[in-house]
Amino acid sequence: MKLKDKVAIVTGAAAGIGLATARKFASEGAIVVLCDRSAEGVEREAFSLSASGHTAVARAVDVTDRAGVDAVVADLKRQFGRIDILVNNAGITQDARLQSMSEAQFDKVIDVNLKGVFNCTQAVVDTMLEQQRGVVLNASSVVGIYGNFGQTNYAASKFGVIGFTKTWARELGPKGIRVNAVCPGFIATDILSTMPDKVLEGFRNACWQRRLGEPGEIANVYAFLASDDASFVNGTAIEVSGGLSV
Ligand SMILES: NC(=O)c1ccc[n+]([C@@H]2O[C@H](COP(=O)([O-])OP(=O)(O)OC[C@H]3O[C@@H](n4cnc5c(N)ncnc54)[C@H](O)[C@@H]3O)[C@@H](O)[C@H]2O)c1
Repeated sequence: MKLKDKVAIVTGAAAGIGLATARKFASEGAIVVLCDRSAEGVEREAFSLSASGHTAVARAVDVTDRAGVDAVVADLKRQFGRIDILVNNAGITQDARLQSMSEAQFDKVIDVNLKGVFNCTQAVVDTMLEQQRGVVLNASSVVGIYGNFGQTNYAASKFGVIGFTKTWARELGPKGIRVNAVCPGFIATDILSTMPDKVLEGFRNACWQRRLGEPGEIANVYAFLASDDASFVNGTAIEVSGGLSV
């Protein structure tokens, strides 16, 4: 098992890629902390994972609530004594083309996707520094590399996450902490539910595997990056898109 007894926080773990990642990490032996603004989803999943012999706990927290994030991290430190892995996965979209995007839409997406990543990482970094060991994984997107129609706010947030990743890899790499980003292509989760069928068809056709990705295919990459198999992988943004950009 690649992640045996590692304490791993996954944000946005009630659905989609975060849920698949929590399940994958549990199957690799991690002690999984499922965090989400939706308490019900993470509590149900933590119960189900625990019932099948894994160690999993749920914490309801909004990543934009800094005091709430700090309280969860302090509580986890008391309970488990360490934090080995943070997967900054929680994210949202609020799409509109440039002319019609409201300030509220812009601010909300930046707040969750960018400041939320800052909040959670800053909350765990002292613990990882004390341990002289840790892994931070950030959810970026192909949209953070190439941009996308109607996603000014989202593209900026995901490009920003790559900036965090490269900066923190430099700051924290010498102290035993690896930081990497994953840039998924288009993955079949609720986040695509607002996209018209025609757009989804376009995503399938743009991918050289001619399909959407599955959440588990991103979870597998997070598990690799979180493990010692990736011990010399630091400061990178790995595209996992079925060859979208080829
Ligand atoms: N699905 C895709 O095609 C795709 C592609 C590239 C990147 N991503 C990124 O991957 C991550 C996961 O996406 P997904 O497709 O699984 O989305 P999803 O909508 O299926 O799940 C997102 C989860 O995050 C939670 N969440 C949202 N805001 C939160 C907040 N403020 N605090 C705590 N939890 C919050 C939601 O409750 C939900 O459980 C996101 O960062 C997304 O931008 C997704």
